[in-house]
Amino acid sequence: MSASTGPSRPDPPERGATSGSPESDPLRGSPEAGQGNGPAPSGEPLLSVRGLKVHFPVRRGVLLQRVAGHVRAVDGVDLDVARGMTYGLVGESGCGKSTLGKAVLRLVEPTAGTVLFNGADLGGQSPERMRRLRRHMQMVFQDPLASLDPRQSVESVLTEPLRAHGFTGDRSRRVRELLDLVGLPSGAAGRYPHEFSGGQRQRIGIARAIALNPELIIADEPVSALDVSIQAQIVNLLEDLQEQLGLTYVVVAHDLAVVRHVSDVIGVMYLGALVEEAPSDALYAQPLHPYTIALMSAIPIPDPEVEERRRRILLVGDLPSPVDVPPGCRFHTRCPFRRPTRCADEVPALRETRPGRKVACHWAEEIAAGAVRAAAGAHDPAATEVGTPSS
Ligand SMILES: Nc1ncnc2c1ncn2[C@@H]1O[C@H](COP(=O)(O)OP(=O)(O)O)[C@@H](O)[C@H]1O
Ligand code: SF4
Ligand SMILES: [Mg+2]
Repeated sequence: MSASTGPSRPDPPERGATSGSPESDPLRGSPEAGQGNGPAPSGEPLLSVRGLKVHFPVRRGVLLQRVAGHVRAVDGVDLDVARGMTYGLVGESGCGKSTLGKAVLRLVEPTAGTVLFNGADLGGQSPERMRRLRRHMQMVFQDPLASLDPRQSVESVLTEPLRAHGFTGDRSRRVRELLDLVGLPSGAAGRYPHEFSGGQRQRIGIARAIALNPELIIADEPVSALDVSIQAQIVNLLEDLQEQLGLTYVVVAHDLAVVRHVSDVIGVMYLGALVEEAPSDALYAQPLHPYTIALMSAIPIPDPEVEERRRRILLVGDLPSPVDVPPGCRFHTRCPFRRPTRCADEVPALRETRPGRKVACHWAEEIAAGAVRAAAGAHDPAATEVGTPSS
């Protein structure tokens, strides 16, 4: 999904339709915030996240409810998403992906850090300004049924955001347009979510997300709840819409295989932090962080001969509790490449090893060169060769 200079997108539906009063939208055309749908000023990313933390207090005690610790769900994330591109965010369940997505959209309040959207700082905005800004940033959820009210017809689901943001144009026409964009017949408008298949419901969820002509969509596990046969259709739809509407995506998935084909850049998250970030092709050609290497070695290779010859790196143990993040390298308790020095007591910075590639491992270069190897017991005994998927 790469469209570094995306096509110019149609005007948002409320433009020219809001009973004559020009909307004082803090993002569109404002000096501090770039120019709406046009190219980002001086190549500025559409989304820029710095030092983002979300720590949830853990309370103990029946009466006093004292704070006994914090779930460090997101623990200091920096990332940039260029306009028109797709950023894939992967990591095991529980590593903080959804919380990160929600914190970017201010659906949960960050503990620390900044989020710039189109150059505008989303922190400290008044609720009304934030409500308006949110129009440009929408979320697609994993479970389309849970995110759709079963008592609302599709027409009602799709007109709700239009109404909430003061769209006074022809709402029925806009609903038909949206259904057409997501590949549903206009007759779907009068039906209810339970009357649709999982894939169709996700199409409705996507139609709702694009109703206000946003710039950024955070798709949180958009195909995880769907049959494999349907997943490709929804991924293709997201790609088509990106091209047609010039959208920018953050696609969240626990499965590297899902984000591989759609992402321009992939960020690998472990226990609240990014441990590797790279252009998709480069990451697949040579993952540098041991966690990414392990995740990649779990992806089956379609060629049975290669599949049989390669050696899998096994990840031992469960994800540690985000209440008690291991000191030093947060991955050291499970890392098959762990060394006696540095790993357990020195936090590795997410550093750029070559242009566009970042990794948070003290030994990334040595591992890539084969000078540091995985512990013998880390390999799947059924296989014989250390390898990374090449297809
Ligand atoms: N509202 C909350 N209160 C406390 N802990 C939470 C809350 N939301 C998420 N968490 C915890 O934060 C961690 C990250 O969760 P989440 O962002 O849902 O991960 P992912 O989407 O990667 O599966 C998990 O340990 C989860 O239990
Ligand atoms: S710093 Fe050490 S423990 Fe962490 S990923 Fe690298 S080798 Fe593994
Ligand atoms: Mg999640």
